[in-house]
Amino acid sequence: MQNNMNENVFQHEELRSMQETGEWPIVDSQLLATKYKDRFAMAERLMKKMNTDVFFEINSIENDESPVIENWKDENIPDKSFSHWHQGPVYGYDIDTMVGPTDWHGDIGDADDYVQRRKVYIFDWTADKLNETAPEELQYFVNMHTDFKPILEYYAEECYSEQKPDWGRVLHKLMIIEYSTPTANDANRSEHRAHNTERFGDEHCDETLAGLHLGENYVEFHAKNTKTEKWETIDGLENNQMLWMFGEHAERSGWKVTTHGMTHNPDPNLDTRYSIIFDLQARYNTKKIY
Ligand SMILES: [Fe+2]
Repeated sequence: MQNNMNENVFQHEELRSMQETGEWPIVDSQLLATKYKDRFAMAERLMKKMNTDVFFEINSIENDESPVIENWKDENIPDKSFSHWHQGPVYGYDIDTMVGPTDWHGDIGDADDYVQRRKVYIFDWTADKLNETAPEELQYFVNMHTDFKPILEYYAEECYSEQKPDWGRVLHKLMIIEYSTPTANDANRSEHRAHNTERFGDEHCDETLAGLHLGENYVEFHAKNTKTEKWETIDGLENNQMLWMFGEHAERSGWKVTTHGMTHNPDPNLDTRYSIIFDLQARYNTKKIY
């Protein structure tokens, strides 16, 4: 396995003091600037190929669980917000749909408009289970999982060493996320994009230990400064930098969580947005209450 500790990382004490001073733990990444420079073009190509048929084809492997789709609807607005979550033994695929700005504010069918978020999940076991006939775009992100995993392992030790004995399984989940406006035209694309960002970009903190943000093709990510508690967009994520974000379970080790969301970027030339995030999660094996 390639060792990526040529990458810039922060040490425990640096991270502690940055949380106090309100600096973001964001650095240039060699891998993002070189081997994975075309990651957003690859994300676009991956998502163009991705659909339910492709998912079933790649996830139907011998001697393993069968792929399934779980359909979900928002119980308050089942016609306005619904999802198709694809689960299988190789990789995961989610389609989350909300009706577009016209139907959202009016009756369903006024415009037949909708906005979408789609996600591909690559897990620790994906590399072993992926068939050679899988699309090269999927293989590309499986390699990205392998290449960036040592950074998550480094931070797991640096940030959470004292809670490690409580961990059962540790999961490293790479997410390729697409935010699209399939029913928009040139005249209303910005409005549809704003609606998409508003619907899917609400402020939250991840139910993880942490996430390594590996970039967005244009700036919409924003987060709450740990000192001033003001919202800030983070420049650099569109340009080969990576950001370390603390999730909910980081609080057990005394870290401040990284509260984040998305905020609309009004540039009229923008279209589909891609974002790549690598989550670190643990299953806890004790019932200890923190
Ligand atoms: Fe998040």
